[in-house]
Amino acid sequence: MRILVLGSGAREHALCWKLKQSTLVSKLFCAPGNAGVGMVAELIDLIPTDTKAVVVFALRERIDLVVVGPEGPLSVGVADALDKEHIPVFGPRKSAALLESSKAFAKEFMHRHGIPTARYAVFNADEELEARAFLRHANYPAVIKADGLAAGKGVIISQTEAEASHALDEIFNQRIFGEAGNRIVIEEYMEGEEASVFAITDGTAYAMLSTAQDHKRILDGDRGKNTGGMGAYAPAPIVTQAVMEQVEREILEPTLKGLREEGRIYRGVIYLGLMIRNNRARVVEYNVRFGDPEAEVVLPLIESDVADIMLKAAEGRLTEALPVKLFSASAVTVVIASQGYPDSYQTGETIHGLEEFTPKREIDEGTVVFHGATKMDGHNYVTAGGRVLAVTAVGYADDLKATITQAYNAVAQIGFNGAYYRSDIGKKALVQPVHESNG
Ligand code: AMP
Ligand code: GLY
Repeated sequence: MRILVLGSGAREHALCWKLKQSTLVSKLFCAPGNAGVGMVAELIDLIPTDTKAVVVFALRERIDLVVVGPEGPLSVGVADALDKEHIPVFGPRKSAALLESSKAFAKEFMHRHGIPTARYAVFNADEELEARAFLRHANYPAVIKADGLAAGKGVIISQTEAEASHALDEIFNQRIFGEAGNRIVIEEYMEGEEASVFAITDGTAYAMLSTAQDHKRILDGDRGKNTGGMGAYAPAPIVTQAVMEQVEREILEPTLKGLREEGRIYRGVIYLGLMIRNNRARVVEYNVRFGDPEAEVVLPLIESDVADIMLKAAEGRLTEALPVKLFSASAVTVVIASQGYPDSYQTGETIHGLEEFTPKREIDEGTVVFHGATKMDGHNYVTAGGRVLAVTAVGYADDLKATITQAYNAVAQIGFNGAYYRSDIGKKALVQPVHESNG
């Protein structure tokens, strides 16, 4: 099988690393990838949102499967364009990717199909007066979200009406989220703990993957600015067997049924961002792809052949790949970022210590370093972005603590000028009752 992966982060490195382990894969390309991805795939200089270029490349290289990493290409219809040429693609069509690319669409979709989520109202930029009237009677804290894609940063939680009113002004008049803020969703604040659930689907059949928990804030103790994600662990003990059953019955199955009824073709992975309280989950958001850094912990826990699963999902015959087997193990990934991220930061810093992380060590110790943003400078890896590396450990299912230690032991061996990481990834799970965890 000849596979093309689209994207350039640690998620795509993890995807390529996992696909490379399949005996079915004869050739692996990644566009554009990064220096780390270059160790496992041939890098192609192509912009993933340039759907025409993706199709031309896939036809020329006789690609059997395109795996889409990020949401951007899906939201502009890369799956539709590939599908037109009968090239199997792991990733939903544009009309289904709206679940992520429009928060107003997602809320209305959940409302139509009775899927549990926070109460909400939607306002366009020309309805500022109506939005202000609504805020006068809202409960606080209230959550204000830009409708469009904003790289996880388009959410403002306001404690008072004055704060909410200021947020409205920033979105509609100062346009801090640009076009993404042409519409907003105002919603009820949900208390609880967040977790992510992933399922691979062909639109009808589905296979649950491991659950995971991200760490979105820059500082220890979930303080400071929001980032793309500073680390993750899997599975998440907060998602007990009972919660998982509720998620499948009340969220996942109605979502897939709703998509089918509305003629929105979904073949890929669906990511449910959940808020859990009193053993019940409600939807915070949908994503139409793997999370980053969640992919770095969810993918290593898949035992079955990922290339086989993804191809069968893309071809609408996922049932042939079921059941998808998972390892009974735990995984932890710690992101090493550039000092200053998520604001401005330096790049081009030489990275030390990576030479220790050979494939042999990967197999012996279950430790692997996925590259998020690196470049080659002569024989050296140098930093090339905010989230530079995702240092990942896989260990025993019933000893997350040891897996965390293993990840941090590896982190300690790697460095560059201004390297920054959180020191509490996974800690939250250690206070949960682990005997209820799912796999
Ligand atoms: P989103 O981009 O919709 O996932 O929102 C980003 C983050 O904002 C989420 O991961 C939550 O931490 C927080 N958030 C979003 N919506 C809500 C809500 N209704 N209640 C509480 N927190 C929320
Ligand atoms: N880590 C959060 C996301 O990928 O959206």
